[in-house]
Amino acid sequence: MNVVVLTGAGISAESGVPTFRGSDGLWEGHRIEDVASPSGFARDPQLVHQFYNGRRALLTGGSVQPNPAHFALARLSRARGIHLTLVTQNIDDLHERAGSEDVRHLHGELLKARCNRCGAVTPCREDLSRASICPACGGIDCLRPHVVWFGEMPFGLDEISAALSRADLFVAIGTSGLVYPAAGFVAWAKEAGARTLEINLQESAASGTFHESRRGPAGELVPRWVDELLAGTKDQG
Ligand code: OAD
Repeated sequence: MNVVVLTGAGISAESGVPTFRGSDGLWEGHRIEDVASPSGFARDPQLVHQFYNGRRALLTGGSVQPNPAHFALARLSRARGIHLTLVTQNIDDLHERAGSEDVRHLHGELLKARCNRCGAVTPCREDLSRASICPACGGIDCLRPHVVWFGEMPFGLDEISAALSRADLFVAIGTSGLVYPAAGFVAWAKEAGARTLEINLQESAASGTFHESRRGPAGELVPRWVDELLAGTKDQG
């Protein structure tokens, strides 16, 4: 069985990583275009570095750990009879820390930096600033977070689209369904004949598009759903 899972900020909420959109539409008090666009970075690189430095420090500080939803997906990825493609919009590394391999980070990774001069992508656990030096080319003031900003192309779309076209089951977990192309994956999967399931604390912008929606915290619902799926595939096998 080919399963494609798309995760969003909601899966990491119970791990202590804040979701993006507050009720005021701001990201931790910032306008999205100020901290997540190439023009925002050109206008005020220090502000953008500070914003991502804060999120990176949270991730590396020890208080944020994978939760049962991340572990359940890692278990699913190792199950016999299931081919899982795990796509995340999250820039944290919690899926990897829970044991998932080959995670498709559509929107990049916070623990990597990219050089605007030589293009190298390098590990990054420290704060970035205009004084940071690229470990690959030695350039200064040329590193940026390896994340996708508005107006930029998400990573890995060709492979993801191929996986969606083969999917028997598509599951979206903890995502608001507002940001494309990810918000369109449910329609692609349905077009390919997949069954579709949403797991979210609340109704999302895309809820009406799914065959089934389950409401509740990912940390409870995802392990339950994985148990169900594995029990079902065992019965068939
Ligand atoms: P959002 O912050 O837009 O939405 C988080 C979703 O998670 C909401 O639908 C919540 O209802 C749900 N949620 C919150 N807590 C939950 C829990 N404990 N269990 C289950 N669901 C829960 O985050 P995303 O949809 O991931 O892109 O945002 C998509 C993209 O918008 C991000 O990747 C980012 C941002 O722009 C870029 O940076 C390019």
